[in-house]
Amino acid sequence: MVIAVDGPAASGKGTIAARLARTYGLPHLDTGLLYRAVGLKVLQDGGSLDDESAATEAARGLDATGLSDDARLTTGEAGEAASRVAGYPGVRAALLELQQAFAAQAGGAVLDGRDIGTVIAPDAPAKLFVTATPEVRATRRWKQLTARGIEISLEAMLADIQRRDDRDAGRGAAPMVQAEDAVLLDTTDMGIEAAFDAARRIVEAARAKHGL
Ligand code: C5P
Repeated sequence: MVIAVDGPAASGKGTIAARLARTYGLPHLDTGLLYRAVGLKVLQDGGSLDDESAATEAARGLDATGLSDDARLTTGEAGEAASRVAGYPGVRAALLELQQAFAAQAGGAVLDGRDIGTVIAPDAPAKLFVTATPEVRATRRWKQLTARGIEISLEAMLADIQRRDDRDAGRGAAPMVQAEDAVLLDTTDMGIEAAFDAARRIVEAARAKHGL
């Protein structure tokens, strides 16, 4: 079974996807890490995020192993760089095959991102679009960062989240949008346990519907 989990930053989709993967014994790919790695590679090579061909080259040469252990990819700088390079069709094309191969594994997989249900795995039997208000998402991300000793104001965090939402939803190439057959899960008033329970019920309903 392929489970597609999409949604904006700090909606809870990453945690939900990881827990669904554990629950169903499926491999999990956080596709945001791919874009983060490409953005950071461009910066590390001294390139500009405005340079589509440099970003496309970085995406084509990406070594996708060990990304989940790389702490540099979790920074705000990497997230911002990711959303800049993610708008380039060449970057998205270079990362497509890898993601589709991951989704096509025997037994299935869980992938989370922005375009899993629409572009990467449009035939996935279980699709969730996880969201929450920008204010709640900014507060969550702010708490995570301050707990790690990173200083940022809540206002700056909210502006950051809104800029990222606008860029991800407004781009021409694979914009962030809820797939027609995805189930909306609004986690605004939910803790992680309640959100995960709701996600599992959505997946169970999809399994029953598709006889899986
Ligand atoms: O989910 P995460 O915050 O790690 O994603 C970082 C950025 O990568 C997003 O803001 C988005 O621009 C891009 N992205 C994307 N498509 C995906 C996953 C991430 O465009 N499937």
